[in-house]
Amino acid sequence: MLDNDLPEIDWDSMTFSYQKTDRMYVAHCKQGEEWQPGEMQDFGDISLSPAAGVLNYGQGLFEGMKAQRAADGSIVIFRPERNAKRMQEGAKRLGIPPVSEAMFQDAVRQAVLENLRWVPPMGKGALYVRPLLMGSGAILGVAPAPEYRFLVYVSPVGPYFKGGMKPISLKISDEFHRAAPGGSGGVKAIGNYAPGMVPSKMAKAEGYAEIIYLDAVHHRYIEEVGAANFFCIKDGVVSTPELTGTILPGVTRASVLEIAEDLGYEVKEEKVDVEYAMSADECFCAGTAAVISPIGSIRFGDHVYEFGDEVGPVTQKLYDELTAVQQRRIPDERGWTVTVE
Ligand code: PLP
Ligand code: COI
Repeated sequence: MLDNDLPEIDWDSMTFSYQKTDRMYVAHCKQGEEWQPGEMQDFGDISLSPAAGVLNYGQGLFEGMKAQRAADGSIVIFRPERNAKRMQEGAKRLGIPPVSEAMFQDAVRQAVLENLRWVPPMGKGALYVRPLLMGSGAILGVAPAPEYRFLVYVSPVGPYFKGGMKPISLKISDEFHRAAPGGSGGVKAIGNYAPGMVPSKMAKAEGYAEIIYLDAVHHRYIEEVGAANFFCIKDGVVSTPELTGTILPGVTRASVLEIAEDLGYEVKEEKVDVEYAMSADECFCAGTAAVISPIGSIRFGDHVYEFGDEVGPVTQKLYDELTAVQQRRIPDERGWTVTVE
């Protein structure tokens, strides 16, 4: 296949799944030194010592962004500086040398530019951009690795939840927790995700799209969904769990809060009691992969609360506004989209 050939992809039936692409970005750093300039190389397997810190002790972080074709013909990424900053916070927490915002953004830009043919047509998905930051050096004792690698690869994706804007059924977990105070729930540590796989698989086997986690102290306040933040709307008030260090500070979450406020809704970041959420008018989850996904029903123990088969009016309004800004179908007055060039 020539470089400019379009890949053989049915853009209309894409899901959120891995697709090998052409090129990836790789940079190296030794503990205590500066990051070496990174370079683009052909996408492929990487070699790591079996004693690498990331393999043995999970010293690693990831990020997720989407590059999309916009209405003005350009390719845009949504607020990547926020992902860069979040990765820096995570690096601090895990004892990894942080990658500067400029280096992060340049790596993302190069990774998109060298995989342009994989960017789906406008409105048919996105090129998911996945930066990884990991302890690549060998270490046997539990301590920060002596060497680090920063990598960016990409993959074209469709909707995270089957059906896109179709309301999903979720189950609140009364058995598993995602994060505890003082832990790593507030950063995008790779180790936060494996413990959620079995709970999520169990919920899916029962017909639910995902799990909603409760806080690990009171078992009463909603934290977030497996890979997205939680919102509910009651009597016109848009509420989302406050950031207490156990919830991922989502870029979509922050953007939805600002959009909701600009649209004139009262907005609250607070403890969201499970009883309150289950009496709300509408609920949805929000994230880069999930965008805004409406929640049609929630099960908690023996109770099932139905929000209905239709997307709620506030959820729809927020979705329309968010996606319009992301694809520059309306003027991006907040300067949230960055052109990849
Ligand atoms: N919460 C978790 C656990 C996530 O993995 C994600 C995805 O990144 C989010 C929330 C949403 O964050 P963002 O909107 O930055 O993608
Ligand atoms: C994202 O929304 O970017 C995520 O990280 C979700 C991912 C775990 C699939």
